[in-house]
Amino acid sequence: MSAKPVERLSQTEAKRELAALAQQLAGYDSAYFQDDAPKVSDADYDVLRRRNAAIEARFPDLLRPDSPSHRVGAKPSAKFAKVVHARPMLSLDNAFHDEDVADFVARVQRFLGLKEDDELTITAEPKIDGLSASLRYEDGLFVQGATRGDGVEGEDITPNLRTLKDVPLRLHGRAPKILEVRGEVYMTHADFAALNKRQEKDGKPVFANPRNSAAGSVRQLDPAITASRPLHFFAYTWGETSELPADTQWDMLQAFKGWGFRVNPLIRKCRTVDEVLEFYRDIEVKRATLGYDIDGVVYKVDRLDLQDRLGFVSRSPRWAIAHKFAAEQADTILQDIDIQVGRTGKLAPVAKLKPVTVGGVVVQNATLHNEDEIARKDVRIGDTVVVQRAGDVIPQIVRVILEKRPRGAKPYVFPDKCPACGSHAVREVDEKTGKTDVDRRCTGGLICPAQAVERLKHFVSRDAFDIEGLGGTYIELFHEKGLIEEPADIFRLTKKPDRISKTLSEHRAALSAERRAKEGKGEPVKSKRDDDKEDKVVENLVASIDARRNISLDRFINALGIRHVGETTAKLLARNFSTIEAFIGAMEGEHAVEELDTIEGVGETVAEAIKDFFDEKHNRRALDHLLKEVDVQRVAAPKVSGSPVAGQTIVFTGSLEKMTRPEAKARAESLGAKVASSVSKKTDLVVAGPGAGSKLAEAEKHGVKVIDEDAWLKLIEGA
Ligand code: IVH
Repeated sequence: MSAKPVERLSQTEAKRELAALAQQLAGYDSAYFQDDAPKVSDADYDVLRRRNAAIEARFPDLLRPDSPSHRVGAKPSAKFAKVVHARPMLSLDNAFHDEDVADFVARVQRFLGLKEDDELTITAEPKIDGLSASLRYEDGLFVQGATRGDGVEGEDITPNLRTLKDVPLRLHGRAPKILEVRGEVYMTHADFAALNKRQEKDGKPVFANPRNSAAGSVRQLDPAITASRPLHFFAYTWGETSELPADTQWDMLQAFKGWGFRVNPLIRKCRTVDEVLEFYRDIEVKRATLGYDIDGVVYKVDRLDLQDRLGFVSRSPRWAIAHKFAAEQADTILQDIDIQVGRTGKLAPVAKLKPVTVGGVVVQNATLHNEDEIARKDVRIGDTVVVQRAGDVIPQIVRVILEKRPRGAKPYVFPDKCPACGSHAVREVDEKTGKTDVDRRCTGGLICPAQAVERLKHFVSRDAFDIEGLGGTYIELFHEKGLIEEPADIFRLTKKPDRISKTLSEHRAALSAERRAKEGKGEPVKSKRDDDKEDKVVENLVASIDARRNISLDRFINALGIRHVGETTAKLLARNFSTIEAFIGAMEGEHAVEELDTIEGVGETVAEAIKDFFDEKHNRRALDHLLKEVDVQRVAAPKVSGSPVAGQTIVFTGSLEKMTRPEAKARAESLGAKVASSVSKKTDLVVAGPGAGSKLAEAEKHGVKVIDEDAWLKLIEGA
C-alpha cells in the first residue's frame, strides 16, 4: 500500500491503487466470508476500506464497478427500475409423491425416445427457500442484478445485490463475455433469529420467516440496510450467456464455483429413480440441521443437449421438476366460515381461524375450497382443525379432530343465496357430461355488487392494467360511493379529482372518528398539511391512471376478466389476433367458437366462455366505453427469425424414427409453426413416416405438400 497522503496522489497513481485495493479487499472478503478464515485483523481491514473510500471521494470518476465500497451501499433510490430479463426466469413444476417423480422420469424418457435402461443422468439439488435473483456479468464485471418479478420483468436491485459477500463483483478466471448467473438469496436460521431479536429491541416489526426477511432485506430502497443484513447466495442456473463452458448441469455448477460463486455442497448426480428418491429422503433427514430453509429437492436432466431438446411447456422446463417436502401443520379452532363472492360469482368458503403459527407464519384464514369439501371433511364451526401450509399456497384445512368437537356443533349449511346480492346461488350442470360443478355460483351476474367489485379489482391488478396506488380498498370505496361502476369509469376519474379528494377525505375522517370514538377522544383538528398530503395522493392517483391509457393487447384481454381466461390464455389470444379490432371482429363473427378452437392451447370450455362474454350486450357496451379511454397496443406474433416453418400449420403422421412425436411437435412449435392433428385445406405441410394412412389421402385431396422425416429434418436443420 502506498503511504502517500491521498491529497497528493496523481490520477494515475490513484487509479492504480484503487485497482490494487479492489483486488486485495475482495481477497480478504472471500477469505473471511467464504472460507471462514480471515487473513487480516478487522482494524487493518478497516484502514484499507477507509483509504479506498478517501481515494474515491477525491477521484469520483475513478469509481470502479467492482469497488469494495459498493459492499456497504450507495444512496437510496426513489423506486426500483424494471428490468426485462434477457431470458425469462422460469418456474418449476412440482412433484409431491414418489410416483410423480417416476412419472417425470418416464415422461422425459418417452419424449426423448429413450429405452428404460438407456442412461439418463439427473442432478439432484436442494431447493433453497429464498428468493431468486439474476446476476448479469459483462466482461467479467457485475453490471446488473434483478429480482425474478413475474419471470419476464423483474426489479433492478443491483446496488443491493452488490452488498452481498456471496456475489462476486468480478468473476474469477476466464468467463464468458456475457453471463447471467441465477440462484437464490437466502438467510440462515441463526441470522434470521438474531435479526428479529434486533428488530424487536428497536421496536421494529419482526419477520415471519427467513424467506420473508431475505426478501425484505434485498428489496430495500437503501442498499445500506441490505448491507447490514446477513444475506447469502447459492448459484444454481443461468440466463443469457455468450458461451457455455460445459455441457452438463453438473459441470456448469463446477464452473460457477470457479468463477467465485457458492454452489450448494449437497448436490448429487443420480442415475435412476431409486437413487433420486434416496437422495430426497437423505436431504429430508438433513433438512433440520442445515441451518437454512429448503422446501424440497430439484431434479434436472444433466445433459444440456437433452435439456434443449426437451424445451419448455408454458412457464416450466420439461427437463426439471421440484419434489416438494410435505407441508407443515398445526391445530387450531375454526371460529367461523365466511363466504366470499369472486368475480365470476363463485362462492368461496373461507375458514376464519383462531390465529396459529404454522411453520413460522401466523395463519388466520384458510381455504375450505367448496361445499362438497366442507361436507366431506364434515367441518363444523367450533371444531378443532388441523391446518397446513406448504410454500406459497393458501393454508388449507386437512381434517377435523373429532375428539375435540364441542357438544351441539351442527353440520355446516352452505348458503343457496348470494350473501352480497341475495340472488340464487346454484351449481351448474354440464350439459354434455351431466356433471354438477363443484362450485356454487351467484346468478346475479351484472347486478351483483360483489362480483362487480371483484371484476374491477381484477381489472386494476398487477397482471392486468396494473394501476399503481389503486388497490382493493380504493376500488371498494369508489364503487360504494358510485364513482366507478364499469372499467371505463376508472379512466373517467381523472377528470374528477375533486370528487376523489372529497371521497378520500370523508373516508379518512370516518375512519379517524371511529378510532377516536373507540379511544374516547374528541374531534380531531385537520391541518393544512393534511390537505396538502391529500392533494398529492389524488395527483399521484390521477397520474398513475393516465399512465395506463396505453396497454398491450394481452394485458387488456386478461383485464376483461372473462371466465377461464387468465394471463396465459390472454397471451395466446393476443398473439393469435394481434389487434383488439381483429379480436373483437372475430368474436362477433358467426364462427367465433370454431376460430378459437384452432388456437393451440384454447379448448372448447374457454371458447364458449369467451363467446358468452361477447354475447352479453352489457359487456360489449362496457368494452366500447373502455376503448374510448384507452389505446390497445398490438402484440406481434412471436418472430422466429430464420425459421422456415414460422406461421405454418403442420401435421405429423405415420411413425417417426429419429424423434418422438412429442419432440417433433415441440420442435415445430418452437419454430413458430402450429401443429394440428388432422389434415384440412388450412394445412401447409404433412410430414409422413412409414405407415401413414388416411391423412396422406386427405393431403392429396387438398393438394397439401407431403415430405418424409429426413426431408423434415433437413428443412429445420440449423433453424
Ligand atoms: S432451477 C428453469 N434450482 O425454485 C429452472 N430453482 O419453483 C429454474 N429454487 O424460481 C430454477 N432452489 O427460485 C432451481 N436448486 C434450484 C433451486 C431453485 C430453489 C427456486 C427458484 C425457482 C423456484 C421454482
